[in-house]
Amino acid sequence: MSTKPTSNDHGTGVRAAATAAAEGDRIIIFDTTLRDGEQSPGCSMTTPEKIQVADLLESMGVDVIEAGFPIASQGDFEAVRAIAGRVKESVVCGLARAAIGDIDRAAEALQPAARSRIHTFIGTSPLHRQFQLQLDQDQVHERVAASVTRARSYTDDVEWSAMDASRTEHDFLFRCIETAIECGATTINIPDTVGYAYPEEFADLIRLIRSAVPNIDKAVLSVHCHNDLGLAVANSLRAVQAGARQIECTINGIGERAGNCALEEVVMAVRTRPDQLPYASRIDTTKIMQASRLVSAITGFNVQPNKAIVGANAFAHESGIHQDGMLKNAQTYEIMRPEDIGLVKSSLVMGKHSGRHAFKTKLKELGYELGDNALEDAFARFKALADKKKEIFDEDLVALVDEEIATGDQTIRFVRLLVQCGSDIAPKAEMTLSIDGVEKSAAATGDGPVDATFNAIKALYPHDVLLPLFQIHAVTGGTDAQAIVTVRLEEDGRTVNGQSADTDTLVASARAYIAALNKLLTKRGRHAPAALSA
Ligand code: KIV
Ligand code: ZN
Repeated sequence: MSTKPTSNDHGTGVRAAATAAAEGDRIIIFDTTLRDGEQSPGCSMTTPEKIQVADLLESMGVDVIEAGFPIASQGDFEAVRAIAGRVKESVVCGLARAAIGDIDRAAEALQPAARSRIHTFIGTSPLHRQFQLQLDQDQVHERVAASVTRARSYTDDVEWSAMDASRTEHDFLFRCIETAIECGATTINIPDTVGYAYPEEFADLIRLIRSAVPNIDKAVLSVHCHNDLGLAVANSLRAVQAGARQIECTINGIGERAGNCALEEVVMAVRTRPDQLPYASRIDTTKIMQASRLVSAITGFNVQPNKAIVGANAFAHESGIHQDGMLKNAQTYEIMRPEDIGLVKSSLVMGKHSGRHAFKTKLKELGYELGDNALEDAFARFKALADKKKEIFDEDLVALVDEEIATGDQTIRFVRLLVQCGSDIAPKAEMTLSIDGVEKSAAATGDGPVDATFNAIKALYPHDVLLPLFQIHAVTGGTDAQAIVTVRLEEDGRTVNGQSADTDTLVASARAYIAALNKLLTKRGRHAPAALSA
């Protein structure tokens, strides 16, 4: 029976969560940011970036990290293998179609893992069977048995997914689930692959599976909801109320098309309303903001300001009546505390006289712990920023550190930029770069100052790539605000994102372009450059 809370006392959620955990009513959080999330167009990440995300997911208590789709590419394989070799607490999962080659490749990639899971799937709906697979029900059913059996020969943690489950005939779905469990699947995942289900309908499906599949008690029931109708979180929560115990989700809700169920939303919904969902997850919610910023910085996918939980306005109170209420008692308009998701407003004010120690302490308060080299680089850039900008806001530091974190190999380094532009002159950029440690300079013109800047980079390091995205955002208000620039480059189906923040928009643009170019070099391998060679 659910009990209505008498107030939205912030402590209630935490206490109920602890009780639920003690009773073993735990929700397993399966994060697929690195697999389904990475599948969204333009979202691709390099292996070092995936490792950073995996490390953070592990430290925030994610139960299962789906690290990639090893058969998809050599890069995916290497990323899964690298993550499998370092993550100790979370289960590391690799995706495989219902094919021997896929499963063997996933097993090979997962081989170094302390705890591994093979996740194998096949389309079960009439549309998928007929048009994608050209298989009848019996043939699909045979593949379910063969794929789960093969996966189980490598690990005793096997997840089976019925792709497009929400549009599959019930009797056929139940038959496949029963067989998958008989063959050793320990988790059964029910995807709403095209985000078509309605919450009540999806909950009914979960209830039906629990009553109609005789061996269902031998597996954990999982859900994987897409957000095409904006219902991914609602469907996942209703599924839990109906008996599902694993939720598949991604940071910031990234993923195919409209994305997946957002981890931060589903986790905070569970934590905030224990009267509706008396369960607990293992997630350290104070790391949510950091994870959101990291994924956004790496992918170049900005979070919309009004996005639940992690949007810039999620805890901002603008109207007079709300501000008045907040001043009297924060609970009048706040159902969660900003600090619960790691949003801290610290009293340490940073400026040009702040030293290394204060800088490090401040970053820690903001949820960052950098290694010695990254800290030194970030500190040098902070000092340079403090020379240019009177007030340094937390957002400025976050932008600066995110850029430091997302910077990988730097074959090409920004040294200097001088741009001439205005109403009566042709834009001209004079650029100095350090390429493999050697400084080179060149000048170029263009259709505008940004075009001239990018042309100067091309003059110094000839290459031929597409630029599908160039985006500028102000970090804070004011004309002295830093600009965050995101540049996306694409070549032969490989996509990379570079991001940089600076008070000078053109400098930020040049740095963002160079960051993306360096990632492209890493992705394609240094020694096979046709279009990218200098
Ligand atoms: O959306 C989907 O069906 C998937 C499966 C591979 C689980 O991502
Ligand atoms: Zn999916």
